Amino acid sequence: MTASRTWHDLQVHPCFDWTEPDAGVVAAVPHWRAEGRRLVYDLGCGAGRHMAYLEAHGFQVCGTDVSPKALRTCAERLAQVGLPAWLVRADMAAAPFHDKQFDVAVSTNVLNHGLRGLLQQTLDEVRRVLRPGGECYLTVLNTWDWRCGDGQEVEAGSFVLAAGPEAGVLHHFFAEDDLRDWVRAFELLELSREQTPISPAGGAAGPAHESPVMRDAWAVLLRK
Ligand SMILES: C[S@@+](CC[C@H](N)C(=O)[O-])C[C@H]1O[C@@H](n2cnc3c(N)ncnc32)[C@H](O)[C@@H]1O
Repeated sequence: MTASRTWHDLQVHPCFDWTEPDAGVVAAVPHWRAEGRRLVYDLGCGAGRHMAYLEAHGFQVCGTDVSPKALRTCAERLAQVGLPAWLVRADMAAAPFHDKQFDVAVSTNVLNHGLRGLLQQTLDEVRRVLRPGGECYLTVLNTWDWRCGDGQEVEAGSFVLAAGPEAGVLHHFFAEDDLRDWVRAFELLELSREQTPISPAGGAAGPAHESPVMRDAWAVLLRK
């Protein structure tokens, strides 16, 4: 297999500048609160934009990430706003938690970094740590994303990117049938497509482009 960089090899990533929560997380919070859900697993928390948002809305959140830099940034940002930082360094495929521990899992822009088998193992782990009836909100890149097809395809839908700030990093891009197969152990509550224009100056995606490009992802709400 082609060697790829791991995400945590990257020293700086624009996602560490993201502060606004994902629209799907914002939309889910009122019903999670109304249902009395309290304990949230934020897989790949990055700089902690969802930890901060969810904690400010009364949830107790555990953030995990493989990157020490992400965890440091996250701890600093939560400290700045006086919120707790329950952070654990862990790889996505091995959740260091008990079975049925969490009411909710959130993972945005993380579950693209691996071959399909690893991503299946990761989602199985998420399911294991959710209680029955637990909900899971995910965003993952899809095959319309501007980077899909860039670099070397090492497996169907999985590319080691050739350009941009994530050059050398393995990304899986989900087609709809692939996505539906991936989440088949859950009840699929919502599936939508999120398109985000990326600024020609690079924005969240990387190299300067003359014409705008589109970050394209699936947003998925699941119930165990
Ligand atoms: C694009 S950032 C998204 C951060 C955050 N979820 C957000 O939406 O703001 C991807 C995050 O996934 C983490 N990550 C990448 N590979 C991982 C792995 N194998 N296990 C755990 N976290 C991983 C990175 O360190 C990074 O913080």
